Amino acid sequence: MFKHESIETNSGMLIVLTLVAISIGGLVEIVPLHYINGTVEDVKDPTTGLDSVRPYTPLEQRGRDIYLREGCYLCHSQMIRPFRDEDLRYGHYSLAAESKYDHPFQWGSKRTGPDLARVGGKYSNEWHVQHLTAPRSVVPESIMPNYPWLKATDLDMSDLRDRMIALKRVGVPYSLTTVEYDANVKKFGESVAKTLDINRAEDNLMAQAQAGNYDGNPANVSEMDALVSYLQVLGTMVDFKKFDEDYFIQFR
Ligand code: HEC
Repeated sequence: MFKHESIETNSGMLIVLTLVAISIGGLVEIVPLHYINGTVEDVKDPTTGLDSVRPYTPLEQRGRDIYLREGCYLCHSQMIRPFRDEDLRYGHYSLAAESKYDHPFQWGSKRTGPDLARVGGKYSNEWHVQHLTAPRSVVPESIMPNYPWLKATDLDMSDLRDRMIALKRVGVPYSLTTVEYDANVKKFGESVAKTLDINRAEDNLMAQAQAGNYDGNPANVSEMDALVSYLQVLGTMVDFKKFDEDYFIQFR
């Protein structure tokens, strides 16, 4: 039999045995996730039977790109853990389903600022514009950087289509063909399916920016429009009021 001492004094053996132990542990943890039904919850709206979680609209998706470009994830997580204190502060813990169309997901590991997984609807658009442009004008003790260029910069839409096609390749159900569009109508309903149609992406983006007027300036579509539209949808897709309090426990 091995003596513990002989393993610890032989670094080659220690490395090999460590790798074996970690691999077994890893496989035991990871492999079942690919087989257990409900690892990613199937969340359907109880009144309509349609999927609650939908892919981002073109405007929201571009806002998300800006979120990544500016490195907001360095200070903000987007995952509420199933602990009482988090639940009280941020709301219902995050479901896996809520980030199933996120590539890459923004769960994060650093909270210099608060979690943003359910920030949608918490503040008005005006508040976000003011806060992003000059955080200390609304929260005097804030250490968040100013992002004054967002409102002044027109949103680049030149590669919108390519970006959506890239996301489609990794499994986000944006549609190109009529067959794909019809499948989306079944899954998400017609009004959502329209926003997921790559062929109408630019029109959809303009329409949402104009209707939402997120940055308060209807004359142009700015990066601020896109970012605020993204922040305002975070955590709003699943209406938790429609589910029993313990409905989601079955998936844990
Ligand atoms: C250096 C760290 C840092 C970075 C980078 C940062 N933030 Fe913040 N953020 C904070 C801090 C700290 C707060 C809390 C104080 C405040 O509200 O300003 C905050 C607050 C917020 C809030 C309000 C949250 C709430 O629930 O009250 C939003 C929304 C927000 N940030 C969005 C962003 C976005 C979008 C970006 C990227 C463009 C970003 N932040 C980048 C640190 C940061």
